[in-house]
Amino acid sequence: MGFLADALDRVKPSATIAVTNKARELKAAGRDVIGLGAGEPDFDTPENIKQAAIAAINGGKTKYTAVDGIPELKQAIVEKFKRENGLSYETNQITVGTGGKQILYNALVATLNPGDEVIIPTPYWVSYPDMVLLAGGEPVVVEADKSTFKITPESLDAAITSRTKWIIFNSPSNPSGAAYTESELKALTDVLKKHEHVWVMTDDMYEHLVYDDFNFTTPAQVEPALYDRTLTVNGVSKAYAMTGWRIGYAGGPAHLIKAMAKVQSQSTSNPCSIAQWAAVEALSGTQDFIPANNEVFKARRDLVVSMLNQANGISCPVPEGAFYVFPSCAGTIGKTAPSGNVIKNDADFVTELLETEGVAVVQGSAFGLGPNFRISYATSTEALEEACTRIQRFCGNLK
Ligand SMILES: Cc1ncc(COP(=O)(O)O)c(C=O)c1O
Repeated sequence: MGFLADALDRVKPSATIAVTNKARELKAAGRDVIGLGAGEPDFDTPENIKQAAIAAINGGKTKYTAVDGIPELKQAIVEKFKRENGLSYETNQITVGTGGKQILYNALVATLNPGDEVIIPTPYWVSYPDMVLLAGGEPVVVEADKSTFKITPESLDAAITSRTKWIIFNSPSNPSGAAYTESELKALTDVLKKHEHVWVMTDDMYEHLVYDDFNFTTPAQVEPALYDRTLTVNGVSKAYAMTGWRIGYAGGPAHLIKAMAKVQSQSTSNPCSIAQWAAVEALSGTQDFIPANNEVFKARRDLVVSMLNQANGISCPVPEGAFYVFPSCAGTIGKTAPSGNVIKNDADFVTELLETEGVAVVQGSAFGLGPNFRISYATSTEALEEACTRIQRFCGNLK
């Protein structure tokens, strides 16, 4: 018997963190590397939010708090759900954790029994399948269409069994940036409505990052019949440039929320008190910087899509949201890189690109769909232009 838990053999470390680390190593060794792996805004946290945190420190808000969030933050979240999503929750239906990541994990640990299935559409955020495995469940992957990155109602229906406990839904998506329109979402919720034992875990982390007047909607809003079996997950990391502050939250049925608090009470206890006060300001204060940031993101998205589509063998759809593009590199498979190695799949493409041109991206297969790769465009326009120029050169030099 080994010392480490068997459950750990079932999971792999995050591929996105691995790429970021590899890029950091090469940089430290003096290589000129452009990292497009990290999924975080390059903007600073807005000043009003930072000031709220400083006031919390100076005001002595530095002690343990209620396990799953201070009442003031729960109230701000209730108001956010009402104002932005038309969802009515009481404060006992709200939970706050150390990032959306902990919220998702709490929910899985609180509900999964061995053999329980969780439907995960591809391409998925790297952590979903591994979190399900760690919590003792079975991920069931549903393949999206390779050009829209969306699943169909028929494929969803076909994946549901009597063991299905959850579907994890993520729109706009990490890694594809694809977002379901209200009618596309309704077609999926119509399927879910029929299967009364299936719960919906919707990860709305990229809600505010949508472009071209896209109208964001969330499952419990589109189909009120799902309200009693939906956990609506969100957080302040992406929209408010607060990745390091670690605050995520969810609204859902009170009995589930209570069970999730029980998990948290015996693991991490409350999220950082100071960050909670900062999150109150994020959700209740001015939202002006969101459209301003989105203007910048949209311009970068358009630049990256257009430059990638000019690279030999690359094809890049225009995503509706988030700050990722997920181009196909199918046209480069079978070609030979300057190193002499043949590109057999997207992992090879990513490795050769990093070695040859010093551009760090993440292979699509890490997200369950390839041959693609993910670029995060949450970095400066200059760096993106240079990176895309290098990708064009790399693809142009393949034989
Ligand atoms: C789809 C998705 N969900 C959840 C998270 C977790 O966010 P956090 O734990 O910072 O709230 C991320 C972060 O990368 C994400 O991309």
